[in-house]
Amino acid sequence: MLTGGVINPNSMDRHVEVLPDLAALVDRSLELVLEKLNDAIAHRSIATIALSGGSTPKPLYEKLAEQDLPWDQLHVFWGDERYVPPTHEDSNYRMARLAWLDKVPIPAKNIHPMLTNEADPAIAAQSHEADIQTFFQIEPGEFPAFDVILLGIGDDAHTASLFPGTDALKVRERLITVGNKDGQPRITFTAPLINHARTVLFMVAGENKQHALSQIFAPDADAMNYPSRLIQPQGELWWLLDQSAGKNFS
Ligand code: 6PG
Repeated sequence: MLTGGVINPNSMDRHVEVLPDLAALVDRSLELVLEKLNDAIAHRSIATIALSGGSTPKPLYEKLAEQDLPWDQLHVFWGDERYVPPTHEDSNYRMARLAWLDKVPIPAKNIHPMLTNEADPAIAAQSHEADIQTFFQIEPGEFPAFDVILLGIGDDAHTASLFPGTDALKVRERLITVGNKDGQPRITFTAPLINHARTVLFMVAGENKQHALSQIFAPDADAMNYPSRLIQPQGELWWLLDQSAGKNFS
């Protein structure tokens, strides 16, 4: 049994905030993301962020498009990707480009999509892993620290494309692996890569996420069934919940 760690919201680097509604959650997320990106740029002259897909973060991306950031010092990655062309309506890359990246003067070289043009998704995963190793100038076996990794959860407590009961949950030595959603391949950050982040920020909205949250925050539950339990970063962990998702935690 993979239990994963317990989120103690009162510890120094573990935070759970319940916001009145989605708009407030998005505003708080924007505030935190800007704080972490600007801090990274101030200290290291570069900031790295990995985006989540789905619907919750889209209004955040739209607000980021209104910001005046040093775009040449920001590098954008994705924490997971559906295995579809970049023009497909399900593409996380496409969603973020339309909501944010096509609206700001970020250099093309600063945008690092998970490519989905290989017949074999495992080859695509290996290729993206090599790209990340090159970018961070690390050796195989080393893990880079992204400044911010944005995540959501599904009703089944998956995060990124780490789905319950899948082999992707057991991968420990890789940065990138192949996820599996009901037989559909995904490319995803592994739990160890996510856990090396400086800041992990979950955005969770909607009554349909209540059960998943109760199991993620439970003292002991099997992370194989509730994969978000695996996310215990060495850095800061933020859970931003709207009232409908987090009313049992406020
Ligand atoms: C994806 C996401 C996925 C998402 C959750 C929540 O590729 O779909 O990365 O992990 O964050 O499924 O999605 P919603 O925000 O739409 O509820």
